[in-house]
Amino acid sequence: MSIATIGAGRMGRGLARRLAAAGEAVTITGRDVEKVAALAEDIPGDVSAGPIAGAANADVVFLAVPYGEVAAAVAEAGSLAGKILVDITNPIGPDFSLAVGMTTSGAEEIHKLVPQARLVKAFNTIFSDVLDIQLSDPDTPPQVLYAGDHEFANQRVEALITAMGFAPLAAGPLENARLLEPIGLMTIQLGMKLGHGRRVVPRFVEY
Ligand SMILES: NC(=O)c1ccc[n+]([C@@H]2O[C@H](COP(=O)([O-])OP(=O)(O)OC[C@H]3O[C@@H](n4cnc5c(N)ncnc54)[C@H](OP(=O)(O)O)[C@@H]3O)[C@@H](O)[C@H]2O)c1
Repeated sequence: MSIATIGAGRMGRGLARRLAAAGEAVTITGRDVEKVAALAEDIPGDVSAGPIAGAANADVVFLAVPYGEVAAAVAEAGSLAGKILVDITNPIGPDFSLAVGMTTSGAEEIHKLVPQARLVKAFNTIFSDVLDIQLSDPDTPPQVLYAGDHEFANQRVEALITAMGFAPLAAGPLENARLLEPIGLMTIQLGMKLGHGRRVVPRFVEY
């Protein structure tokens, strides 16, 4: 399966690096093709670059742009019908509030823009810095929560999370993005306001 990112910022690059290290072929797409080509060259493995219009050629597309830019980015990507679209965004409003409130989620609003895509919410609860962590065997891998309505898409994303060295946790249907997004914002509070740094990770444990 081919993978693309829309966006080549901290998350887009970090995901590409981690996915390529797991042996996946990744195309990083962005508005400035020369810039993303230079970024792709710096990442070891099967990593290429291209325009956003080409992202929809991939089977799995990671949406790695700010929430407020999603509509423009998916419009440029063309038809994402049938594609697995991984929404990693946190819909951040003023003062780190939830831009969409609690009666919907950023993911559900994105799904309205691309209803034919098989949307999975994932990776919004970890900082980009966590994508750079080198894990050794005894370490407990960071947990990555994901939620989505399509079984095949969920399975595929779970497999990618595992291949990247993380511990996937199925968080139910896409509607549960309403709960994952506040966890993302809480993580930002912990990391950036409450002194825990950008390697803090939420983790559910069964005792
Ligand atoms: N950073 C984190 O730790 C973290 C953690 C979890 C989730 N997230 C989420 O991940 C997403 C990306 O965050 P980030 O930290 O990687 O952001 P970032 O470093 O600021 O990078 C944003 C990327 O989006 C691109 N972009 C912006 N507007 C665009 C548009 N209209 N069309 C196409 N591309 C556009 C930018 O391209 P240009 O270079 O052309 O401007 C850039 O490549 C956000 O939704 C954020 O909430 C971030």
